[in-house]
Amino acid sequence: HQPLLGKHLMITAGATIERIDPVRFLSNDSSGKMGLALAQAAYHMGAKVTLIAGKLHTPPPAYLNCITVESARDMLAAVMAQVDHADWFIATAAVADYGIDSPMPQKIKKQGDNNLTLTLSQNPDILQTVCQLKNAPFTVGFAAETEAVIDNARAKRLKKGADLICANDVSTRDMGFNSDDNAVTVIGEGWEKSLPKASKAQLAYDILLACIEYHTAHSAT
Ligand code: PMT
Repeated sequence: HQPLLGKHLMITAGATIERIDPVRFLSNDSSGKMGLALAQAAYHMGAKVTLIAGKLHTPPPAYLNCITVESARDMLAAVMAQVDHADWFIATAAVADYGIDSPMPQKIKKQGDNNLTLTLSQNPDILQTVCQLKNAPFTVGFAAETEAVIDNARAKRLKKGADLICANDVSTRDMGFNSDDNAVTVIGEGWEKSLPKASKAQLAYDILLACIEYHTAHSAT
C-alpha cells in the first residue's frame, strides 16, 4: 500500500551548523534520525523524497535524493530552490535560531587574557517562510519543547502558519534529540493525535499516516 504515491515530499533533517571560523561552529544535539526515518518511511509509502540535511550522525541511504547544507541560511536557500516541486514540506531539522553574520576567514587566535565576544543575529525562519508562500505546499513542522509542550506547540503552529505541527517533548534523554525513540502529538486546526513512544522508524510511519488523515480531511486539493 503506497498512500503517498505521486506526492513529492521535501523533508529537512539534522542540525544546522553556524560557523565561527574554519574549524569551529555552533550547533545542537539533533542527530537527524527522526528526519531520516520520515524520509525513508515516505519513500516506502511511494513518495518522491528530497531530503535537505544539515549535520547527520548517520549518512542517508543512497536511494534518497539528499542535498547537504551547513547553516540555517544555506538550508533556507536549498529549500527555496526546491519548494516549487514539493507537495508537502516536513521541517524536522533543528535549525539554529541565531547565527554568526560573518564567520572569521581564519582560525581565531586566543585573545591574551581577554574574553571573546561573539555577536549572534537572528536567522531566517525556514518553516515560516515556506508557510507564507502564495502556493505553499502542505506544511508539517516540529516543535521541540521542554515545558508546556502542547500549549507551546499549538502557539508555534499558529505563529509559523503551518498546517500541522508535531509537539515533541525534549525534556528527557530517552526521547527527542539523538535518541532512538520518540513520541509526538500531531496538532492541526481543531484536531490532535497523540502518538505514543516508539522507535523513530515506527513513529515516522505513524506521523505520516496521521498527516495523510488530516490532509485528506482538511485539504481542498
Ligand atoms: O534529529 P534527532 O536526533 O532524531 O531529533 C529529532 C528532533 C528532536 C530534532 C525533532 O523531532 C524535532 O523536534 N525537530 C525540531 C527541532 C526544532 O528546532 O524545533 P523548534 O521548536 O526550534 O522549531 C520549530 C519548527 O520551526 C521546526 O519545524 C524547525 O525545523 C523550524 N525552524 C526553526 C527555526 C528556524 N530558524 N527555521 C525553521 O524552519
